[in-house]
Amino acid sequence: MIDFHTHILPAIDDGSRDESESCELLSRLERQGVDTVLLTPHYYGRDYSVPKFLERREKAFSALESAYTGNIRLIKACEYNIATDVNSDFMSLVPLAIGNTSYILTELSFESEWGDRLFKRINSLQLCGLTPVIAHAELYPAVRKNPSLVARLIDGGCYIQINCGSVISSDPLVAALINGMQVHCLGSDTHNTTKRPPEYGRAIEMLSASFGSQTAEGLNDNMNLILQGKPLSARRGAAVKRTLFGKYK
Ligand SMILES: [Fe+2]
Repeated sequence: MIDFHTHILPAIDDGSRDESESCELLSRLERQGVDTVLLTPHYYGRDYSVPKFLERREKAFSALESAYTGNIRLIKACEYNIATDVNSDFMSLVPLAIGNTSYILTELSFESEWGDRLFKRINSLQLCGLTPVIAHAELYPAVRKNPSLVARLIDGGCYIQINCGSVISSDPLVAALINGMQVHCLGSDTHNTTKRPPEYGRAIEMLSASFGSQTAEGLNDNMNLILQGKPLSARRGAAVKRTLFGKYK
């Protein structure tokens, strides 16, 4: 199984503090049946240039590689925050893609309304050959208010990642998105061993119990295809709506 979103790389963002915590997080994930982990530290363009970020990521990766003795395959990536970035040189973002692919884990805006600027920036990423995988789509206030935005993103060529925590908390929006075939990837978004530990195994159990084991397998197949740089099916069900009573269907 593949964990698509983690802050396990040591001392680079608000995730793992050091190599020892990183190794503990990886060992917990291995016990939960995960064999591949994407290392996705936050990338905020306001803090670092892309080359500077890549230099920091390389340093953290080397430190982790020397300390880690387990069996998990580690893949370099990032969580690119598109909403706060003011960079307009989108070609410079190409090295932020996942592994050797042209997919990029992309964090959107936590503002309650999404303006045209956000969609224009997504489009500019795509014009540079990048395919955004939207990080934890279920968490954005704009999506919780108007969940049909997820269908709009998919129709616009993006794919969707959800967090294990939202599966475990039985988030009704996540259930509606899964039923509407609008979820492609799963990530623990783990940051540390205490407040945000990895709970991948539990999420898989709950997914299988609620939606059948083929749902968890389907997500894993999608993530495998992404790591091979292959396209996914964008076939989806009806756009999710929020009813007057705050339910999702
Ligand atoms: Fe994250």
